[in-house]
Amino acid sequence: MKGVILAGGRGTRLMPFTKIINKQLLPVGPYPMIYWAIIKMKKSGIQEILIITHNEHLSNFKTILADGSQLGVKITYEIQPYAGGIAHGLMYARDFIKKDKFIFMLGDNIFEESLLPYVKNFIDKNEKAKVLLTRVNDPKRYGIANINKHTQQIISIVEKPKYPLSNLCVTGIYMYDSNVFHNIDFLEKSCREELEITDLNNIYITKNQMSYEILKGWWIDAGTHTSLFRANQLVQAVLNQSETSEDK
Ligand code: DAU
Repeated sequence: MKGVILAGGRGTRLMPFTKIINKQLLPVGPYPMIYWAIIKMKKSGIQEILIITHNEHLSNFKTILADGSQLGVKITYEIQPYAGGIAHGLMYARDFIKKDKFIFMLGDNIFEESLLPYVKNFIDKNEKAKVLLTRVNDPKRYGIANINKHTQQIISIVEKPKYPLSNLCVTGIYMYDSNVFHNIDFLEKSCREELEITDLNNIYITKNQMSYEILKGWWIDAGTHTSLFRANQLVQAVLNQSETSEDK
């Protein structure tokens, strides 16, 4: 398994900071936001990680993370030339992934649980694609999954629905096989002129190749001022707890 972290985007909901700094480099606890995605990947056994960002902030990532050796992983970089959507960004991982399976994470997602059991299931069950879901109070902000009540299978995902049919949010933690790049080739731009991750996932659903699990513990998309503040509180609480247990 390899890991890919998407860390570009415009960060418009975190202005004015994102005028000068990439969203994924803003502080969450004592580290830059992206550090947490890297650590989750490392703890699930992933050693090779690709970070995809835009050219403007690439040097900042290299200054902070370098080749990843200080964090015990091997980091390489690719540039997404413009913010053409999450699935558009993923295209730039094609050469890095080759024929491997991988975790794909959005760099602004912070969460409590280890990814290890989900990765293990993905590999052991030889799944082709997997999404991790979590319940949210504000489903209009996310990709929302529709689950068949009888079969428990995922029927479709709707991006930022006006009238959500559930509160099951698709987190920015995805697992794919290398066929994902073939599927991306079939995507068309959405009305906001982006290649959408939700359209890509719906291709897998149509082919009956998408599995899902419910992510345990807290999860947050730290892409707004309010959620970034909340992410800092949650991460700090975890850090305080581990300090207390070390003291004992
Ligand atoms: O966080 C979970 C949600 O993330 C999902 O429920 C949605 O289905 C998914 O579309 C996404 O929604 P967001 O509105 O949060 O996506 P956002 O535009 O904030 O982009 C998420 C991350 O991807 C962010 O870290 C920046 C990066 N990104 C985004 C775009 C559009 C890129 O690197 N390049 C891009 O072109």
